[in-house]
Amino acid sequence: NSYFRYKDGVLHCEDVSIETIAKKVGTPFYLYSKKAIIDKINEYKEAFKDYPTIICYAAKANSNLSILKIFQENDIGCDIVSGGELYKAKKAGIPSNKIVYAGVGKTDFEIEFAIRENILSFNVESYQEIEVINSIAEKVGKVARISIRVNPDVDPKTHPYISTGMKKSKFGIDIDEALNIYKKAMQFKNIEIIGVHCHIGSQIMSISPYIEAVSKVAELVDKLKKEGIELKYFDIGGGIGIKYKITDEPPNIKDFANAIIPIVKQTGLNLIIEPGRSLIGEAGALITKVLFLKDKKEKHFVIVDSGMNDLVRPSIYDAYHHIMAVKIKDKTIKADIVGPICESGDFLGIDREICQVERGDLVAVMSAGAYGASMSSNYNVRPRALEVLVDNNNFKIIREREDYNYLIKLEEEVIQ
Ligand code: LLP
Repeated sequence: NSYFRYKDGVLHCEDVSIETIAKKVGTPFYLYSKKAIIDKINEYKEAFKDYPTIICYAAKANSNLSILKIFQENDIGCDIVSGGELYKAKKAGIPSNKIVYAGVGKTDFEIEFAIRENILSFNVESYQEIEVINSIAEKVGKVARISIRVNPDVDPKTHPYISTGMKKSKFGIDIDEALNIYKKAMQFKNIEIIGVHCHIGSQIMSISPYIEAVSKVAELVDKLKKEGIELKYFDIGGGIGIKYKITDEPPNIKDFANAIIPIVKQTGLNLIIEPGRSLIGEAGALITKVLFLKDKKEKHFVIVDSGMNDLVRPSIYDAYHHIMAVKIKDKTIKADIVGPICESGDFLGIDREICQVERGDLVAVMSAGAYGASMSSNYNVRPRALEVLVDNNNFKIIREREDYNYLIKLEEEVIQ
């Protein structure tokens, strides 16, 4: 893409050579282009500008504080799924009236925290959750705003692990039961029902499942109106896909908006959208260094210093990330790009053709801005990758590399 380009044979992020950054900060590291993020924000804003819409960035995609701060500075809200994400969103200065909170398993502690922070809406996923939110709100003497997450039973045609809107999924309340639940929820004194929510899945490559889902939910909104239940917000979740393979053609944001807005408009409700991946995914890459080359009869392996603890998507979803050498060479090789972790599932790419690399060369794993760093772990007692943000011809570290002391801190204090 235009934010990651070769100049004089070396891959750059905006105007900074990735080799220069690696020399300074070591490897592996996540690298983000600020311009890529801001351009995406503006693309969303432009697409939805003619309709009252709150854009709530799904923080789970990437919750680095400096990244959240970019969203805050551009008036974007947050879709959160935990107390931890709420804490970070508030630290980044995201106003509470732009925070919505989803998730099937909110703890009492998290619910109370969010009530005290006076967030815009709990996107509730069960009747029991409504009861609990009401009683906690009563305890702290507040009224909690909720939207009910309904499950429109639509197949988003994506990976089963990230399909969330089908009947068999744990998410939401079945759309046929929703009317009843709304009616029952009206009785609670410390609950204000403000909306309806749905989210059908992630990495969705066509607009039609959205049209189907949003139309179904719009019918529900009509029914509710007839029963005297007036809502304010129609939250359609996130899920728009991005380019992982060169040949991928994700939906255009403007087309998406143009398809959805007319349906929501008929309900008269304000719109909330919760994009995560599509705001940050293509803005990031994971930069890793070649440690060894290994040739077996069957296969060639490029062993790099980053693995499934840094980027788990290939291992658990069989996800494809485009991989390229940071330095262009005339010769190419075909190899599996694998990490150092003691599992056969630890790979970044299988049978990939990339420019000839040698020990010490850098490799870039593309479209890693979403669900990369945020899903990373310390497996094999590996410090998490450092994170760098590029802004034109400057770069800055936005997360330091963890050191061994950091890794043992919480255990050392209590060692028997
Ligand atoms: N809203 C809700 C309620 C969600 O559950 C999600 C994602 C989003 C919004 C944002 O979806 P996005 O626009 O990012 O697709 N770890 C997986 C993705 C899991 C998505 C979970 N929910 C992956 O790496 O593909």
